Amino acid sequence: MVATPIVKWAGGKGRLLSQYEPYLPTQFKRYFEPFAGGAAVFFWLRNHRGLKFSATLNDSNEELINCYQVVQSQPGPLLERLREMAARHGQEFYYQVRAERPENPLERAARLIYLNKTCYNGLYRVNASGGFNVPIGRYQDPAIVQEEKILAAHAALQGVQLKTTGFDEAALAARKGDFVYFDPPYQPLTATSNFTSYTKDQFGMEQQCHLAEVFKQLVKRGCHVLLSNSDSELVRNLYRDYQQVEVRAPRFINSKAAGRSSIAELLILANPPEIDSVSPE
Ligand SMILES: C[S@@+](CC[C@H](N)C(=O)[O-])C[C@H]1O[C@@H](n2cnc3c(N)ncnc32)[C@H](O)[C@@H]1O
Repeated sequence: MVATPIVKWAGGKGRLLSQYEPYLPTQFKRYFEPFAGGAAVFFWLRNHRGLKFSATLNDSNEELINCYQVVQSQPGPLLERLREMAARHGQEFYYQVRAERPENPLERAARLIYLNKTCYNGLYRVNASGGFNVPIGRYQDPAIVQEEKILAAHAALQGVQLKTTGFDEAALAARKGDFVYFDPPYQPLTATSNFTSYTKDQFGMEQQCHLAEVFKQLVKRGCHVLLSNSDSELVRNLYRDYQQVEVRAPRFINSKAAGRSSIAELLILANPPEIDSVSPE
């Protein structure tokens, strides 16, 4: 089975991959994804073009990175725990799991996957104090135990470095010839679309500007850099020196039907054409 994201994640790129494909480099040394989320681009690259590469996936969400670590190192016990949870699934059990704060990495990973597969809209979203507060979803038979998917992700994650640092620290380890894909929380287009609560820390204008600086440094080093963001004035302006490509993305963040239309997103590209003539910093 080909590896695909194991959790549904806000801003997940699964549906956009066909539009991204022409802009993904066909050759690079190492891969960095500092805002990994569901890591759809990473899994796609692992499956296609027969590329072999080492990778670093980073996300500030510790529960998510812990989950990847457990998938990477102990898929068997994780699947066993998910089978137990699936057997007990129901309203009471859901709210019991939601209220728990396990410390054991295996339990935390199983809890995240269980809640992700059974919660309303299937989206992991935390409140201001870092709590997961999404109600139970209305699925008849949620796919809590996706054995093949987890085993495929386990294989794809072998040798991958998994980190929970800030995006800047994770990205600045990249060197000439490496490929860095940034998929930050999007700059809101309107006051009401400011969904940024993947973690309890907000990603505001200051971070968008800092990210643009990091982007610039990586381009100077000779990295292939790709970034996705909303098609907003700020983003167009921050990356005005680089190639900008519009893509149409379906939006499923809002639970209201009105928020589900397609929306323009921007891909920002920097693939230095004469990469060998660029000297590392
Ligand atoms: C748009 S999502 C990434 C979606 C992903 N590309 C996918 O396909 O599912 C943005 C991610 O950035 C993470 N994040 C937010 N602020 C961050 C920061 N300062 N440093 C690193 N990661 C951050 C969030 O936890 C979230 O998972």
